[in-house]
Amino acid sequence: MTTTTDSQPLAVAGGKPVRTAAFPGWPIFDATEEDAILGVLRSGKWFLGDRVAEFERTFSDFCEAKHGIAVSSGTVALQVALEAAGVELGDEVIVPSYTFIATASSVALVGGIPVFVDVDPDTYLIDPAGVEAAITEKTKAIIAVHIAGQPADLDALTAIAAKHDVRLIEDAAQAHAAAWKGRRVGAIGDLGTFSFQASKNLNAGEGGFVVSDDDELHLRAWSIHNCGRAPGGEWYEHPLVGGNYRLTEMQAALALSQMQRLEEQTKTRTRNAALLTEQLSEIEGIGPLTVDDRVTCHAYHLYVLRFDSDAFGGASREQFLKTLAAEGIPCAAGYKPLYREPAFQARFSEFPLSSPAFGGRPDYSNVHCPVTERICADEAVWLTQNLLLGSDSDISQIAEAIAKIARQPEALATA
Ligand SMILES: Cc1ncc(COP(=O)(O)O)c(C=O)c1O
Repeated sequence: MTTTTDSQPLAVAGGKPVRTAAFPGWPIFDATEEDAILGVLRSGKWFLGDRVAEFERTFSDFCEAKHGIAVSSGTVALQVALEAAGVELGDEVIVPSYTFIATASSVALVGGIPVFVDVDPDTYLIDPAGVEAAITEKTKAIIAVHIAGQPADLDALTAIAAKHDVRLIEDAAQAHAAAWKGRRVGAIGDLGTFSFQASKNLNAGEGGFVVSDDDELHLRAWSIHNCGRAPGGEWYEHPLVGGNYRLTEMQAALALSQMQRLEEQTKTRTRNAALLTEQLSEIEGIGPLTVDDRVTCHAYHLYVLRFDSDAFGGASREQFLKTLAAEGIPCAAGYKPLYREPAFQARFSEFPLSSPAFGGRPDYSNVHCPVTERICADEAVWLTQNLLLGSDSDISQIAEAIAKIARQPEALATA
């Protein structure tokens, strides 16, 4: 560990920050993306053209999935997957309590009832035992979220889904390229969804994707995303009720260009995450989440640290975040327990959860997921994926800033 900062006061107390340079920016692009978008513009074909078709083929192949559909966002991808899976008014869908709101709001938007299950304290991923305990006769599907880019326990979750005859949907919005026992995530479950929103490891500004190996589920999803049409059918022929959830040609062109960078960026994140993990192992009271041995690729959309206040003189996680940011390392606390959001508490919601079809609005006021509540309140520290795209010295400075803080718990406690 570098020791140049041994005697330096903390930056929050007026000392010199470990780092003043910016980390690699995001998005990363050049003339390739510019040409791709201009090509579409000049072609005059701005929807349902060869860019969308090529992106659907390329990204499905990348995900080792038989089928794939490009849609307008990760939220919409979840809605399409849930509808294709047959979720109807009043059906229960099990979701983790530690995730982005879209995992649960998409369930409500298609008329289902989100049922929140706590996460594992070592991985922050949905706890399979909790999933099994939450299954009722109204359960229609389970959404496994690969939070931060680490696959959830897909062995346990596929077994539970099969045993209870419910669908397993993978929310892989944060997990492009992630792999479980050598297979890319997405189509290991019945259906899988991705996001290409601007912060994601594959960025098209906005966008989403639905993958599946199941011909029938794919056909339903395809129809739902394209106004209820049938593949190869007439333009004004609508066997199903669907929405218009299509991706534009410009977004597909951008996503295709960005895909050329994805493998290399994934390798860089993997290498830098390993380096950071190694350097942090020398510091008491802070370290990364556990990575399951069966995870053969972690996408590292986030590098999540567990902060132990006791090892930092009783300082709060908020004091640590403020102090680390002052040392030049951007960081964040991340999610709040999802069921605590006003969207699911008393202030929500005229529709759809208030519909008589539910037999009374679901009451989330008594839901408690203790692990999620603890990690959201005191423990989680997020570093975003772009911090892992730099050099060895960028990574060393992250560890150096944390080590500097760890050496001065009294100063941290007054930050
Ligand atoms: C886990 C998870 N699910 C779903 C989504 C929704 O994706 P989008 O923002 O493209 O609608 C996100 C995006 O932040 C996410 O992180």
